[in-house]
Amino acid sequence: MEYLEKNMSQVENGQLKLTNIYKSFGSVRALNDVSIFTEPGKIHCLLGDNGAGKSTLVNIISGVLTADSGEYLVNGKKVNFSTPKQALNAGISTVYQNLAIIPMLSIYRNFYLGNEPIKNNYFKFMDKDLAISTTKQELTKFGVTVNDVKRPAGTLSGGQRQCLAIARALYFGAKVLILDEPTSALGVKESANVLNQLVLLKEQGINIVLVSHIIDHAYDVGDLFYILKMGELAGSYDKNDVSSKLLRSILSK
Ligand SMILES: Nc1ncnc2c1ncn2[C@@H]1O[C@H](COP(=O)(O)OP(=O)(O)OP(=O)(O)O)[C@@H](O)[C@H]1O
Ligand SMILES: [Mg+2]
Repeated sequence: MEYLEKNMSQVENGQLKLTNIYKSFGSVRALNDVSIFTEPGKIHCLLGDNGAGKSTLVNIISGVLTADSGEYLVNGKKVNFSTPKQALNAGISTVYQNLAIIPMLSIYRNFYLGNEPIKNNYFKFMDKDLAISTTKQELTKFGVTVNDVKRPAGTLSGGQRQCLAIARALYFGAKVLILDEPTSALGVKESANVLNQLVLLKEQGINIVLVSHIIDHAYDVGDLFYILKMGELAGSYDKNDVSSKLLRSILSK
């Protein structure tokens, strides 16, 4: 009997250092000499207007895009990801707001997507009972109690879907968790739950990169704030040195 490998377990921690990153799409320069440093046990917020380059940076970090130039180090070692799978293997997992979950598939199938535990190696049967009980157990850790995880994931609320995607990333060994606008479509209570979960993960030593338009959400949980403006890094602040009011005024300038 062969159970899934935790494919990222060999990753010691998740420190990211990106230096002098440039990225253009045709004549549009999406990132112009951007450098950021992120480390385990902290929540790093990427703030900026529409089109500032936040998602482009996230996509470079997670292997969806390759930078035109610049250096990218993970745990001090130079990397050159050309696929998201390579970033995943280095412990870097990204939760996208809309692409996180396939609504028609059951909750537990979404949890295992591509990582199904195999019961019979010869016939490649999925170990359904194990998948169901593990999914339930892991969701509970994130404050989501579902009686029947065989139900389509589309029946979960927006916040529960985010938690499912986060639980899945962590279960499969993420050391760096990147979230692009995780609370933008959520109500007050659901946002609070997702943000609280991020704080708990940070306390467990996960490196979190949070992209948000909602400054109050970012300020509530963030430790460091990186401000992008038209593809350039317009400032980076430690929470101790900046108020949410000041962040707002820097962003609106
Ligand atoms: N695949 C692409 N092809 C062409 N241009 C792109 C592409 N992706 C991003 N851009 C451009 O690069 C710039 C930065 O876009 P990006 O998506 O990174 O911004 P963002 O900060 O995530 O914005 P938002 O807050 O709206 O999500 C924009 O001018 C955008 O139009
Ligand atoms: Mg974006």
